[in-house]
Amino acid sequence: MGTIGIFDSGYGGLTIFNKIQKALPHYDYIYLGDNARAPYGTRSFEVVCRFTRQAVMRLFDEGCRLVILACNTASAKALRTIQQKDLPRLDPSLRVLGVIRPTVEIIDRISRTKHVGVLGTGGTISSQSYTIEIKNLFPHITVSGEACPMWVPLVENNESGSPGADYFVKKHLDRILSLDPAIDTLILGCTHYPLLMDKIKAFLPPGITLFSQGECVAESLTAYLVRHPEIDERLDKQGARRFLTTESADKFTGTASLFLNQPIEVEQITLN
Ligand code: DGL
Repeated sequence: MGTIGIFDSGYGGLTIFNKIQKALPHYDYIYLGDNARAPYGTRSFEVVCRFTRQAVMRLFDEGCRLVILACNTASAKALRTIQQKDLPRLDPSLRVLGVIRPTVEIIDRISRTKHVGVLGTGGTISSQSYTIEIKNLFPHITVSGEACPMWVPLVENNESGSPGADYFVKKHLDRILSLDPAIDTLILGCTHYPLLMDKIKAFLPPGITLFSQGECVAESLTAYLVRHPEIDERLDKQGARRFLTTESADKFTGTASLFLNQPIEVEQITLN
Protein backbone atom coordinates (compact mmCIF):
# COMPACT_ATOMS: atom_id res chain seq x y z
CA MET A 1 0.00 0.00 0.00
CA GLY A 2 1.14 3.58 -0.46
CA THR A 3 0.61 7.26 0.04
CA ILE A 4 -0.04 10.26 -2.22
CA GLY A 5 2.93 12.65 -2.26
CA ILE A 6 2.51 16.36 -2.91
CA PHE A 7 5.67 18.22 -3.81
CA ASP A 8 6.35 21.95 -4.04
CA SER A 9 9.45 24.12 -3.90
CA GLY A 10 8.04 25.52 -0.65
CA TYR A 11 4.68 26.61 0.70
CA GLY A 12 2.77 27.32 -2.52
CA GLY A 13 1.74 23.71 -3.09
CA LEU A 14 -0.31 23.92 0.10
CA THR A 15 -2.92 25.84 -1.97
CA ILE A 16 -3.19 22.74 -4.17
CA PHE A 17 -3.00 20.33 -1.21
CA ASN A 18 -5.90 22.23 0.42
CA LYS A 19 -8.19 21.52 -2.53
CA ILE A 20 -6.98 17.93 -2.96
CA GLN A 21 -7.60 16.99 0.65
CA LYS A 22 -11.03 18.62 0.50
CA ALA A 23 -11.92 16.53 -2.56
CA LEU A 24 -10.27 13.31 -1.34
CA PRO A 25 -10.15 13.52 2.47
CA HIS A 26 -9.73 9.82 3.26
CA TYR A 27 -6.43 9.31 1.45
CA ASP A 28 -3.03 9.46 3.16
CA TYR A 29 -0.76 12.33 2.11
CA ILE A 30 2.85 13.38 2.52
CA TYR A 31 3.54 17.01 1.65
CA LEU A 32 7.16 17.91 0.91
CA GLY A 33 8.35 21.51 0.58
CA ASP A 34 11.94 22.11 -0.49
CA ASN A 35 11.94 25.42 1.39
CA ALA A 36 15.71 25.45 1.95
CA ARG A 37 16.28 25.67 -1.82
CA ALA A 38 13.23 27.74 -2.81
CA PRO A 39 12.48 29.74 -4.85
CA TYR A 40 12.75 27.49 -7.89
CA GLY A 41 11.30 30.13 -10.22
CA THR A 42 14.62 31.82 -10.87
CA ARG A 43 16.69 28.63 -11.19
CA SER A 44 17.92 26.99 -14.38
CA PHE A 45 16.26 24.02 -16.08
CA GLU A 46 18.99 21.60 -14.93
CA VAL A 47 18.87 22.68 -11.30
CA VAL A 48 15.05 22.57 -11.01
CA CYS A 49 15.09 19.18 -12.69
CA ARG A 50 17.75 17.80 -10.34
CA PHE A 51 16.12 19.18 -7.16
CA THR A 52 12.66 17.93 -8.21
CA ARG A 53 13.96 14.44 -9.00
CA GLN A 54 15.63 14.27 -5.58
CA ALA A 55 12.36 15.26 -3.90
CA VAL A 56 10.30 12.76 -5.88
CA MET A 57 12.76 9.92 -5.10
CA ARG A 58 12.53 10.83 -1.41
CA LEU A 59 8.73 10.71 -1.54
CA PHE A 60 8.93 7.26 -3.14
CA ASP A 61 11.33 6.19 -0.35
CA GLU A 62 8.78 7.46 2.19
CA GLY A 63 6.19 5.13 0.68
CA CYS A 64 4.44 7.29 -1.92
CA ARG A 65 3.17 5.54 -5.05
CA LEU A 66 1.68 8.62 -6.71
CA VAL A 67 3.32 12.05 -6.56
CA ILE A 68 1.73 15.33 -7.62
CA LEU A 69 4.19 18.03 -8.61
CA ALA A 70 2.11 20.83 -7.08
CA CYS A 71 4.57 23.39 -8.43
CA ASN A 72 4.27 24.87 -11.89
CA THR A 73 7.99 25.47 -12.19
CA ALA A 74 8.79 21.85 -11.31
CA SER A 75 5.99 20.59 -13.57
CA ALA A 76 7.36 22.73 -16.42
CA LYS A 77 10.95 21.62 -16.04
CA ALA A 78 11.08 18.15 -14.51
CA LEU A 79 7.83 16.25 -15.09
CA ARG A 80 8.62 14.92 -18.54
CA THR A 81 12.13 13.76 -17.59
CA ILE A 82 10.84 11.93 -14.52
CA GLN A 83 7.97 10.30 -16.43
CA GLN A 84 10.08 9.26 -19.39
CA LYS A 85 13.46 8.44 -17.84
CA ASP A 86 13.05 7.65 -14.14
CA LEU A 87 9.73 5.84 -13.74
CA PRO A 88 10.29 3.08 -16.33
CA ARG A 89 13.64 2.32 -14.67
CA LEU A 90 12.41 2.51 -11.06
CA ASP A 91 8.98 0.89 -11.09
CA PRO A 92 6.50 1.36 -13.93
CA SER A 93 3.59 1.20 -11.47
CA LEU A 94 4.68 4.46 -9.79
CA ARG A 95 3.08 7.68 -11.05
CA VAL A 96 4.06 11.36 -11.14
CA LEU A 97 1.55 13.97 -12.33
CA GLY A 98 1.88 17.73 -12.81
CA VAL A 99 -0.41 20.75 -12.52
CA ILE A 100 -0.09 22.28 -15.98
CA ARG A 101 -2.02 19.70 -18.00
CA PRO A 102 -5.17 19.68 -15.78
CA THR A 103 -5.20 23.49 -15.85
CA VAL A 104 -4.86 23.65 -19.62
CA GLU A 105 -7.53 21.00 -20.22
CA ILE A 106 -10.39 23.21 -19.07
CA ILE A 107 -9.23 26.57 -20.34
CA ASP A 108 -11.14 26.34 -23.63
CA ARG A 109 -14.40 26.06 -21.65
CA ILE A 110 -13.60 29.21 -19.68
CA SER A 111 -12.35 31.63 -22.33
CA ARG A 112 -14.93 33.19 -24.68
CA THR A 113 -12.51 35.36 -26.67
CA LYS A 114 -9.98 32.48 -26.94
CA HIS A 115 -7.25 34.85 -25.82
CA VAL A 116 -5.62 33.60 -22.62
CA GLY A 117 -2.86 35.05 -20.43
CA VAL A 118 -0.55 33.08 -18.14
CA LEU A 119 1.05 34.62 -15.04
CA GLY A 120 3.91 32.56 -13.59
CA THR A 121 7.49 32.47 -12.37
CA GLY A 122 10.32 33.34 -14.74
CA GLY A 123 11.07 29.61 -15.09
CA THR A 124 7.50 28.63 -15.98
CA ILE A 125 7.04 31.44 -18.50
CA SER A 126 10.43 30.99 -20.20
CA SER A 127 9.83 27.22 -20.50
CA GLN A 128 6.78 28.03 -22.70
CA SER A 129 5.12 24.95 -21.16
CA TYR A 130 1.67 26.54 -20.95
CA THR A 131 1.86 27.86 -24.51
CA ILE A 132 2.97 24.47 -25.85
CA GLU A 133 0.29 22.52 -23.93
CA ILE A 134 -2.49 24.96 -24.86
CA LYS A 135 -1.45 25.00 -28.53
CA ASN A 136 -1.39 21.17 -28.54
CA LEU A 137 -4.92 20.85 -27.20
CA PHE A 138 -6.49 24.08 -28.49
CA PRO A 139 -4.59 25.49 -31.49
CA HIS A 140 -7.23 28.23 -31.90
CA ILE A 141 -6.31 29.85 -28.54
CA THR A 142 -3.86 32.76 -28.45
CA VAL A 143 -1.58 32.59 -25.41
CA SER A 144 0.51 35.35 -23.80
CA GLY A 145 2.78 34.90 -20.79
CA GLU A 146 4.09 37.27 -18.15
CA ALA A 147 6.75 36.45 -15.54
CA CYS A 148 6.00 38.02 -12.14
CA PRO A 149 9.24 37.42 -10.19
CA MET A 150 8.27 39.57 -7.18
CA TRP A 151 4.93 37.92 -6.46
CA VAL A 152 6.31 34.82 -4.67
CA PRO A 153 8.52 36.87 -2.29
CA LEU A 154 5.57 39.17 -1.54
CA VAL A 155 3.46 36.18 -0.49
CA GLU A 156 6.24 34.45 1.46
CA ASN A 157 6.99 37.64 3.38
CA ASN A 158 3.32 38.19 4.18
CA GLU A 159 3.32 41.43 2.17
CA SER A 160 0.36 40.57 -0.08
CA GLY A 161 -1.74 43.38 1.38
CA SER A 162 0.97 46.07 1.28
CA PRO A 163 1.40 49.10 -1.04
CA GLY A 164 4.47 47.33 -2.44
CA ALA A 165 2.20 44.51 -3.59
CA ASP A 166 -0.08 47.10 -5.27
CA TYR A 167 2.83 48.28 -7.38
CA PHE A 168 4.02 44.84 -8.52
CA VAL A 169 0.56 43.39 -9.09
CA LYS A 170 -0.55 46.37 -11.21
CA LYS A 171 2.73 46.39 -13.14
CA HIS A 172 2.38 42.79 -14.38
CA LEU A 173 -1.37 42.96 -15.01
CA ASP A 174 -0.89 46.13 -17.10
CA ARG A 175 1.92 44.45 -19.00
CA ILE A 176 0.08 41.25 -19.92
CA LEU A 177 -3.12 43.08 -20.86
CA SER A 178 -1.16 45.42 -23.10
CA LEU A 179 0.49 42.41 -24.80
CA ASP A 180 -2.98 41.21 -25.81
CA PRO A 181 -6.00 43.42 -24.98
CA ALA A 182 -8.37 40.62 -26.09
CA ILE A 183 -7.41 38.42 -23.11
CA ASP A 184 -10.52 37.43 -21.12
CA THR A 185 -8.93 34.71 -18.94
CA LEU A 186 -5.81 34.91 -16.81
CA ILE A 187 -4.30 31.69 -15.46
CA LEU A 188 -2.60 31.99 -12.08
CA GLY A 189 0.21 29.66 -13.15
CA CYS A 190 2.02 29.62 -9.82
CA THR A 191 0.82 27.99 -6.63
CA HIS A 192 1.56 31.08 -4.52
CA TYR A 193 -0.61 33.44 -6.53
CA PRO A 194 -4.03 32.47 -5.08
CA LEU A 195 -2.86 34.29 -1.94
CA LEU A 196 -2.71 37.50 -4.02
CA MET A 197 -6.20 36.90 -5.40
CA ASP A 198 -7.89 39.89 -3.69
CA LYS A 199 -5.13 42.24 -4.74
CA ILE A 200 -5.16 40.98 -8.33
CA LYS A 201 -8.96 41.31 -8.52
CA ALA A 202 -8.72 44.90 -7.27
CA PHE A 203 -6.57 45.88 -10.27
CA LEU A 204 -8.28 43.74 -12.89
CA PRO A 205 -10.60 45.37 -15.42
CA PRO A 206 -14.15 43.94 -15.38
CA GLY A 207 -14.92 40.96 -17.60
CA ILE A 208 -11.65 39.11 -17.05
CA THR A 209 -11.77 35.69 -15.38
CA LEU A 210 -8.99 34.87 -12.95
CA PHE A 211 -8.34 31.15 -13.02
CA SER A 212 -6.71 29.53 -10.03
CA GLN A 213 -5.72 25.89 -10.49
CA GLY A 214 -6.34 24.19 -7.09
CA GLU A 215 -9.83 22.95 -7.84
CA CYS A 216 -9.14 21.68 -11.34
CA VAL A 217 -6.05 19.78 -10.13
CA ALA A 218 -8.16 18.17 -7.38
CA GLU A 219 -10.93 17.31 -9.86
CA SER A 220 -8.43 15.90 -12.31
CA LEU A 221 -6.82 13.70 -9.61
CA THR A 222 -10.26 12.46 -8.52
CA ALA A 223 -11.11 11.52 -12.12
CA TYR A 224 -7.67 9.93 -12.57
CA LEU A 225 -8.19 7.62 -9.57
CA VAL A 226 -11.60 6.60 -10.91
CA ARG A 227 -10.06 5.83 -14.31
CA HIS A 228 -7.20 3.89 -12.70
CA PRO A 229 -8.63 1.55 -10.04
CA GLU A 230 -5.38 -0.46 -10.18
CA ILE A 231 -3.57 2.61 -8.75
CA ASP A 232 -6.38 3.64 -6.41
CA GLU A 233 -6.57 0.25 -4.74
CA ARG A 234 -2.90 0.49 -3.78
CA LEU A 235 -3.34 3.80 -1.91
CA ASP A 236 -3.84 3.96 1.86
CA LYS A 237 -7.04 5.63 3.03
CA GLN A 238 -6.55 6.25 6.76
CA GLY A 239 -6.69 10.06 6.48
CA ALA A 240 -3.04 10.37 7.63
CA ARG A 241 -1.03 13.55 6.94
CA ARG A 242 2.72 14.17 7.12
CA PHE A 243 4.53 17.42 6.32
CA LEU A 244 8.22 17.42 5.42
CA THR A 245 10.42 20.44 4.78
CA THR A 246 14.09 20.93 4.01
CA GLU A 247 14.12 24.14 6.12
CA SER A 248 13.43 24.47 9.84
CA ALA A 249 10.23 22.76 10.97
CA ASP A 250 9.24 25.74 13.14
CA LYS A 251 9.63 28.16 10.26
CA PHE A 252 7.47 25.96 8.03
CA THR A 253 4.76 25.65 10.69
CA GLY A 254 4.61 29.44 11.08
CA THR A 255 4.32 30.33 7.40
CA ALA A 256 2.14 27.33 6.53
CA SER A 257 -0.63 28.89 8.63
CA LEU A 258 -0.96 31.58 5.91
CA PHE A 259 -1.83 28.84 3.43
CA LEU A 260 -3.54 26.19 5.55
CA ASN A 261 -6.33 26.39 8.13
CA GLN A 262 -5.26 23.41 10.19
CA PRO A 263 -2.62 22.71 12.84
CA ILE A 264 0.24 20.61 11.49
CA GLU A 265 3.30 18.76 12.70
CA VAL A 266 6.36 19.20 10.53
CA GLU A 267 9.54 17.12 10.10
CA GLN A 268 12.79 18.54 8.76
CA ILE A 269 14.61 16.41 6.20
CA THR A 270 17.65 16.69 3.93
CA LEU A 271 17.51 16.03 0.18
CA ASN A 272 20.45 14.89 -1.90
N1 DGL B 1 5.50 26.99 -6.38
C1 DGL B 1 6.16 27.56 -7.52
C2 DGL B 1 5.27 27.47 -8.77
O1 DGL B 1 4.10 27.09 -8.72
C3 DGL B 1 6.66 28.97 -7.31
C4 DGL B 1 7.61 29.20 -6.19
C5 DGL B 1 9.07 29.17 -6.54
O2 DGL B 1 9.56 29.99 -7.34
O3 DGL B 1 9.74 28.33 -5.99
O4 DGL B 1 5.75 27.78 -9.84
